Parts: sequence; C-alpha cells; structure tokens
Amino acid sequence: MSAQPTKVTTATLRARKGAQQRITALTAYDFTFAGLLDEAGVDVVLVGDSVATVMQGRDTTVPVTMDQMVYHCELVGRAVKRALVVGDLPFLSYQVSAEDALRNGGRLLKEGLAEAVKLEGGAEFAPTVQRLGTAGIPVSGHIGLTPQSIHQFGSYRARGQDAGERARIVDDARALEQAGAFALVLEKVPSELGREVAAAVSIPVIGIGAGPHVDGQVLVTHDMLGLFTRFRPRFVRRYRELGKEIGDAVREYCRDVQQGKFPNDGESY
Ligand code: KIV
Repeated sequence: MSAQPTKVTTATLRARKGAQQRITALTAYDFTFAGLLDEAGVDVVLVGDSVATVMQGRDTTVPVTMDQMVYHCELVGRAVKRALVVGDLPFLSYQVSAEDALRNGGRLLKEGLAEAVKLEGGAEFAPTVQRLGTAGIPVSGHIGLTPQSIHQFGSYRARGQDAGERARIVDDARALEQAGAFALVLEKVPSELGREVAAAVSIPVIGIGAGPHVDGQVLVTHDMLGLFTRFRPRFVRRYRELGKEIGDAVREYCRDVQQGKFPNDGESY
C-alpha cells in the first residue's frame, strides 16, 4: 500500500516562503486533470474562473456562475489528495456584501470541497477577507491585473506601469495581508514590482506574468499544455503542444476506422 502524501496546507505555503522554496500552482476544472496535476506534485490546484474562457468558450471570466464554480470545485476536490485546492469566487459572488462572500465562500468549501478561496481586488476587500477568515475560510487575494474588472479597464494591459499604480498595488498587498489573506496572486505586472510586492509582505506571492522574483508561479494548465490557443499572453510558456497531439491522434483514429484497421482482432470479442 502506498503511503498517503503529506497534505499541502496554507501553513505549508507560508513555510515555503520562509524557506525560500518556490510554490507551484496550476489550474484544473475536472477530476482527470486535477488527478494528473496532483500526482505530478503541483502544490496548489486552482479551480480558476478561467473555466469560463477555457472550458465554456466565453470571451471573459465575467459570466461564470457560483453554481458552476461549486460544480467544478467538487470535481477537482474529489481527485486531489496532496495539493491545496483553491476555488475562485466568481464575479458578483463577493462584491455585494461580506455576508454574500461568506455564504458563497462557504459553499466552495462545504459543497465544492475546496480548502481555500481566491477573490480579486485590493484594500477595498480587506474587510471581506477578514470576515471570511473569522469564519474559517482561508482567502487568497488576487491583485495587479484583475480579469473580472475587464469592462471597467477595457483591456488586459499590464498593471503597475506608473508610480501611482505601483504604490497602490503594494498598499493593496499590505492591506490584504493585514486582513489575514494567506497568499496573494499577482498578475501581469513588471518583474521589479513583483520583487517589491513579495518583499513587502510575509505571505506568499504567487505570480502569473509577475516575473521570477515572487514566491511561486501559477499558469492556466490548458495554456501551458497548448490545449487552449485562442489567446497567448507573453507570460505563458508552452511546455507541450497537446492540442496538436490530440488533433494528430483523432485524425489517425478516423483514418483507422475508415480503412477498417480499428478495431483489430485483439480489440474485438
Ligand atoms: O482563473 C484563473 O485561472 C486565475 C489564474 C489566472 C491565476 O485566476
């Protein structure tokens, strides 16, 4: 019988920052992918609201609903044994009131089997982070580029490009830490700002397009595997071209069926 792997918790991530060991995080939205990531040793499996673009074919993350996030979290939660499972609070599930945030964050843990939640926004959400923490729901902040606000900003340009924006991002990081956030995702900012934010707080800062000087990295799995190719931000490194691999496999299968080569005797009863 194989030994149970040591579970990654929010405390593990904090200790990693102290020990200067980088944290690895990837997204998953279903049982099969979540199991593959977990077995490969990723520290954090994020059930991102990127499910909207990657799995639902939407243009932004705005339309994904709370019920859909609970559903995807639960598929992931059933597969993961070692990694910390973090579920995204979708647009409008936490912005209306801290009570709403508590109810919805609670659903991700109770029905969705997540172990922590993530929400987008800075200091203005510190009271919400604190309220969830008081109820036993660990919260990761998400600052820098916040894709749920796309209609307010009008573009996915890198954030923190001027002194005012840089100062605001550092202040946001401090306010979220102060409110009890266990980690921060920092998206699409200059590397030097990534370094500054990571140095400004004692909680782990997990970057996506925030350069190498942060405490860990997260990517959308379908981007890094070449499965989702509709947009390709500069920060995505494609480790494989699985979209192409799948296309080749499907064409081979179709050819075999059409030529009577599949199934063979060994594949028949
Ligand atoms: O939804 C998501 O996948 C995310 C990552 C991009 C960090 O929030």
